[in-house]
Amino acid sequence: MKVLLAGAGGQLGRELARLLPEQGHETVSLARADLDIADSRAVGRTIEQHTPDLVINAAAFTGVDAAETEAEAAYAVNALGPRNLAVACERAGCELLHVGTNYVFDGTGERPYEPFDPPNPLSGYGRTKLAGDEYVMRLCRRWYVVRTAGVYGEGGNFVRTMLRLAGERDEIRVKNDEFVSPTWARDLADGIIRIVEAGDYGLYHLTNSGSCSWYEFAREIMRLTGSEVRVTPISTSEFPLPAPRPPNGVLSGLGGPRLRPWRDALAEYLDREGEFRAGK
Ligand SMILES: NC(=O)c1ccc[n+]([C@@H]2O[C@H](COP(=O)([O-])OP(=O)(O)OC[C@H]3O[C@@H](n4cnc5c(N)ncnc54)[C@H](OP(=O)(O)O)[C@@H]3O)[C@@H](O)[C@H]2O)c1
Repeated sequence: MKVLLAGAGGQLGRELARLLPEQGHETVSLARADLDIADSRAVGRTIEQHTPDLVINAAAFTGVDAAETEAEAAYAVNALGPRNLAVACERAGCELLHVGTNYVFDGTGERPYEPFDPPNPLSGYGRTKLAGDEYVMRLCRRWYVVRTAGVYGEGGNFVRTMLRLAGERDEIRVKNDEFVSPTWARDLADGIIRIVEAGDYGLYHLTNSGSCSWYEFAREIMRLTGSEVRVTPISTSEFPLPAPRPPNGVLSGLGGPRLRPWRDALAEYLDREGEFRAGK
């Protein structure tokens, strides 16, 4: 399959740019400097030029708090970007896989969120991402929308922040009333490739399996790295942020591929990070 990948410089994008060719797919990997998805003409021209069978959109404005004040910029990337891709894919007769977020839900439900549970985003980031999902589902016929959560990989992420803080402080205070399924970008990329290879269009939720609070996630990072830093559970009200997050951010993978338990993925990621840090 010939795949055009937008957002190839991000955490998920880097893993896809590595895995797709490894798995035999001809891949055109475009980072932001190569293709700005908010530019509808550039999107149309690029898809016409490369004639892919499938476009994967791993690009997004992922600054959740910044999106509260930078509404135009967030909307341009998260809503109009996927719209531009959907229109161009429909014209070119190719498939589109777009990546979405658990922040489209308000997180007040008691169980993991299923793909067709009604969204109700709490934040500007969530609203712009939901607009992107909807554009894709309405403007092209052959779509996959894959929502994920709590992604870490090569880039700024919670795991790296916790490791940095553990080196700087005696105590780290982490929220214990907000839940997620931490997801390694490599496992997510692998699951996405399985979905497009199966060719079953539709709406998916894809995360590593199991779930935890951010506090439990931090505890596991420290356990696996042998850190003795004190991790203290706090409530969301003790750590206010500009954008509200869903308290229950756990997604149900109903009907889609299953990824391994989050603790196993985290252990392998940390092993590799250790090798990377040791310069191996
Ligand atoms: N990270 C998470 O915890 C999380 C959770 C749920 C869902 N998701 C979703 O998963 C997907 C991948 O996230 P990620 O963690 O890989 O994000 P990421 O590391 O922030 O990568 C996003 C990439 O998109 C690029 N980008 C921004 N604006 C662009 C534009 N106009 N045109 C082209 N590229 C642009 C960014 O480039 P610059 O760095 O140069 O701006 C960056 O390389 C996104 O759809 C995100 O919404 C992520």
